[in-house]
Amino acid sequence: MNSLFSSDLHARSEYNQSKPKLMFFGDPHGDLDPVIAAVERLRPEATVLLGDIQARRPLHVELRPILDLTEIWFIHGNHDTDSDADYDNLWGSELADRNLHGRIVEIAGYKVAALGGIFRSKIWDPRQPIEKAAFQSSDAMRRTMKREERWRDGISRKHRSSIFPADYQQLLRHPSADILVTHEAPAVHPHGWQVINELAEKLGVELVVHGHHHQNIDYLGEGLMTAAAPFRAFGVDMGSHLAWPLHSQGRLESDGLPQDLLDLATQVFGAEARTWLDKPHELLDGQTPAAFAVGGDSEKVRLMLNAIQHGGVV
Ligand SMILES: [Fe+2]
Repeated sequence: MNSLFSSDLHARSEYNQSKPKLMFFGDPHGDLDPVIAAVERLRPEATVLLGDIQARRPLHVELRPILDLTEIWFIHGNHDTDSDADYDNLWGSELADRNLHGRIVEIAGYKVAALGGIFRSKIWDPRQPIEKAAFQSSDAMRRTMKREERWRDGISRKHRSSIFPADYQQLLRHPSADILVTHEAPAVHPHGWQVINELAEKLGVELVVHGHHHQNIDYLGEGLMTAAAPFRAFGVDMGSHLAWPLHSQGRLESDGLPQDLLDLATQVFGAEARTWLDKPHELLDGQTPAAFAVGGDSEKVRLMLNAIQHGGVV
């Protein structure tokens, strides 16, 4: 699967847009400079790290330059339990209480549900019914362990980034959410999981954002999901980010287009018109045709559509 947008392309597409509500960052793996640079430039109300943070110093120290600029939140990934330092720089940080895993928190006006970590079959293989999981919770696992088998008097460090059924079910106690952030991908990804889709649908979210796979993927833009799907989904690469909402009015950019331009796009692309309009285009300096048209140069978008309609390559 190809990346949809490079971080540069994506950054250019945000030029001239107002301050984002939320920015989601792909797995930093120790390099938080892209997070700091993007937050300093775009000043989102809140920032969410999608796991595999592996901060080289305590997270609040690493992110000190932006702590007054944005609200920091995160989920952990599987690599955040690779070493004592990875673990302590996250769970021992002054930002430890910003871990969203297993919670729904109102952030920048959105109810954000979150599931950090990964599925490990020694705990729960989510292709099996949930009641067949080896352990329902970390407490249940801890109770089976002898004192000398424990790490810091609890379960092993590794399994502190495993998903337990109790973490998942805790989210279902809430009636609804707007956004679901996960380290694992939903089922539309080749290595994704149906239980992530089920969680998203039960919570009624409009958006699922995940990390872990180091790919920028707009599943709708890539044609892997349709506009009729119950939620939009994005994967975010390391060093890259997704700003939400996609534009300042909280609607797709194509919602603000003149009707004649929408009609022309429909003539050219049929049911895929919105997909083309809302996908960044290199001839438009990385902006989407919709953003470009709404921003004032609808004529250029019209010319592109006419060229495509008459067999040109655009
Ligand atoms: Fe990961």
